[in-house]
Amino acid sequence: MPGLAQADGTVEVLHWWTSGGEAKAVGELKKAFEADGGKWVDSPIAGGGGDAAMTALRARVVSGNPPTAVQLKGPGIQEWAEQGALNDVQDVADKEHWDDVLPPVLAKIMKYDGKYVAAPVNIHRVDWFWANPEVLAKVGVTEMPTTWDEFNAIADKLKAAGITPLAHGGQPWQDATLFEDVVLGIGGADFYRKALVELDQDALTSDTMVKSFDQLRKLRGYVDDNFSGRDWNLATGMVMRGEAGFQIMGDWAKGEFLAAGKVPGKDFVCAATPGKGFVLNSDSFTFFKVSGDDKIKGQKVLASLIMSPSFQETFNLAKGSIPARTDVALDKFDDCAKKSHEDLIAAVKNDTLVPSMAHEMAVSRSVRGEFLDLVTNFFNSDMSSEDAVTTLAAAVKRAQQ
Ligand code: BGC
Repeated sequence: MPGLAQADGTVEVLHWWTSGGEAKAVGELKKAFEADGGKWVDSPIAGGGGDAAMTALRARVVSGNPPTAVQLKGPGIQEWAEQGALNDVQDVADKEHWDDVLPPVLAKIMKYDGKYVAAPVNIHRVDWFWANPEVLAKVGVTEMPTTWDEFNAIADKLKAAGITPLAHGGQPWQDATLFEDVVLGIGGADFYRKALVELDQDALTSDTMVKSFDQLRKLRGYVDDNFSGRDWNLATGMVMRGEAGFQIMGDWAKGEFLAAGKVPGKDFVCAATPGKGFVLNSDSFTFFKVSGDDKIKGQKVLASLIMSPSFQETFNLAKGSIPARTDVALDKFDDCAKKSHEDLIAAVKNDTLVPSMAHEMAVSRSVRGEFLDLVTNFFNSDMSSEDAVTTLAAAVKRAQQ
């Protein structure tokens, strides 16, 4: 009945959540929206990390037919807002006091010109190891590594035993995920910020950056021969099945383990990658400029739903992340989520919270593109760390001009 849909809003939602865990999580959003009487039009664009989705979004906006809500984040939100492409949902935010329940760092990202143009669903942490404890036990390892040297030592043992140490999918965003976690571990949070957020040329050309590429080269030696082009969730599957020891990936990987019925602390273990800090990634839905009461209503209903405490709990239990709202109890969450929450609070206190470059939280799309190109070229060639550093620093400088 068209009348009904009109009363409760319609949304077309463009997103890239197509893996097992991701589909389950976005399914919760669809279910809740439909339960409120709304009409949900699903527009999934496969491709982890969202690069394909962002290309599709640009095409839709250029053709004058933007989706009502788009999974979009970080500076990307500001870039679209500056072009006048977004609607705000400030009336919903005012009514529901979003400012009081969101960490200031997230609230800032969601606003343009003082108004909310996006609503955050979660907080994902990027700097994680996921490991199969049975595989590690085969080489006598019972503790997760706390430095990159310790990781290398375990990986060498696994390799000597004929086991792939690191499950990895060779796609630019996945290579960049490894890279930024390594930069945090080798350089620390202040260095990370200087190099990957402020794009400071001294940091980008420093010895610390050379050392980071050296460690990335080591990681390259720990992946199997068929890594090229592999999707991230297939790499998670390798760890699940005991075909590899570790994966380095954000906690959407936990969503994958959980969707497959695996139990944290038993079938798989999590630990932060080396380095004091927390690499922040947060998914949000951004509201594009659409017209028609039905669609505008849909945007407001969706915004309110996304920010409701019960939805934030249900969604994040499936997604592997933790709620974006600070007032949702974590009783039902597992130890990895609890650790994420504790470390996040510590990172805010110690000023070691850093935004993910690979996951579009830190720099413009063009600068991120330069990082991804260079890191991937390095990973897939025998480029020296020194050459990587010089080329990267020059490319970043060019992209800023
Ligand atoms: C997103 C996650 C998603 C992952 C893999 C990240 O950039 O923030 O929600 O699960 O990409 O697709």
